[in-house]
Amino acid sequence: MLKLKHRPPNIMQRPRQMQILLLLLAQLLTIVFCDTNPGPEQKGKDEGPSHEHWGYTDQNWSKNFRECEGKSQSPINIEISKTVFQKNLPKISLEGYSLPETSSLNLINNGHTVKLSLPDTMTISSGLPHKYVAAQLHFHWGSKKSQGSEHKVDGTQYAAEMHVVHYAAKYGNMKNATTEPDGLAVLAVLFQVGPTDNKNYNLIFDKLQDISEEGVEVSIPGFDVNSLMPHRLDRFFQYSGSLTTPPCLQIVTWTVFNETVQLSEAQLHKLITSIKTDHDILDSNFRSDQPLNGRNVFSSFSAMLPSSRMGDKGHPAESGGDEQSVDGNHVTLGDTLAIIFGILFGCTALAFIIYLLQQKKRQRLSTESGKKVIYKPATTMEA
Ligand SMILES: *[C@@H]1O[C@H](CO)[C@@H](O)[C@H](O)[C@H]1NC(C)=O
Ligand SMILES: [Zn+2]
Repeated sequence: MLKLKHRPPNIMQRPRQMQILLLLLAQLLTIVFCDTNPGPEQKGKDEGPSHEHWGYTDQNWSKNFRECEGKSQSPINIEISKTVFQKNLPKISLEGYSLPETSSLNLINNGHTVKLSLPDTMTISSGLPHKYVAAQLHFHWGSKKSQGSEHKVDGTQYAAEMHVVHYAAKYGNMKNATTEPDGLAVLAVLFQVGPTDNKNYNLIFDKLQDISEEGVEVSIPGFDVNSLMPHRLDRFFQYSGSLTTPPCLQIVTWTVFNETVQLSEAQLHKLITSIKTDHDILDSNFRSDQPLNGRNVFSSFSAMLPSSRMGDKGHPAESGGDEQSVDGNHVTLGDTLAIIFGILFGCTALAFIIYLLQQKKRQRLSTESGKKVIYKPATTMEA
């Protein structure tokens, strides 16, 4: 971005130039720090919203959780004709999903959903820019069979939705991952009503009565978690979004499978009628769909519609997470932009001053020492 020819070899030994440089550096730091100081838009964020009460009846969560009104929220309505087909998206590969029967998993009613904890031996090994480690899966449902999913496809809401939440292996654990824009990857499975019980879900659904009260948990033996997933792991939509629950952190790479999984009406009924929150039946726990705000939704398969655009852009950089109760101590988009612009401005100013100094020096050299200096203008400073 900045290339200076005839760089003086001993600039650091010249006290005056040193002084000016230091001054500039201080200025740059000032700019950066000023921008990161809490501005008016950050007020309220420090009020520690992480453990406040929230529910699904009033979804105006942004009062207590500022990021819930961010520009990259989840869920969304996926309009297939507007998705960007990405030929080289690898299929999702799941490793370690087949758990030994000897292991045991914790199933809990946390007052917002039914959550099954998953061991860190389960991973997504391909289909995302890097490796992700499983943490838990949970469900979203609705009081009517025709509604319950969080994501919609072409305006259709499905009966229910399962989220398998993973954190990026490189961040070591869930807590660290929640401060990173690419911290989480969530696999979303949409459910439709089918004629028979889906026996693969029996281990979970047979326990729902036992965890009716909020806060109650049970153990279930390990099983093949692959059996909960659709068969076609190569057909999916992918986009960058957020947790669909407070604090709505915008750190999730969402993968929504195109193939749905079937549950019987009786199974759905169990979900809708078993789980209580604060002694009331939690008959509905889906968030309404959020504005796309110009985000790209990628598809791994061609929907074979003429309006489908061919995309050659990279992966979505980040995606939405889900239902992790994490403390919302993180940098917002506004902070990030402020820092970037601060640094850019500082660098440009610095570069300009250096350029001026050099010019001055060259002039001095040519006049003072009488030496012949071939002056070439420093190559352009394109930011
Ligand atoms: C799956 O893709 C087909 C198009 O190939 C579309 O008609 C259908 O609505 C999609 N379903 C989901 C759940 O994505
Ligand atoms: Zn969820």
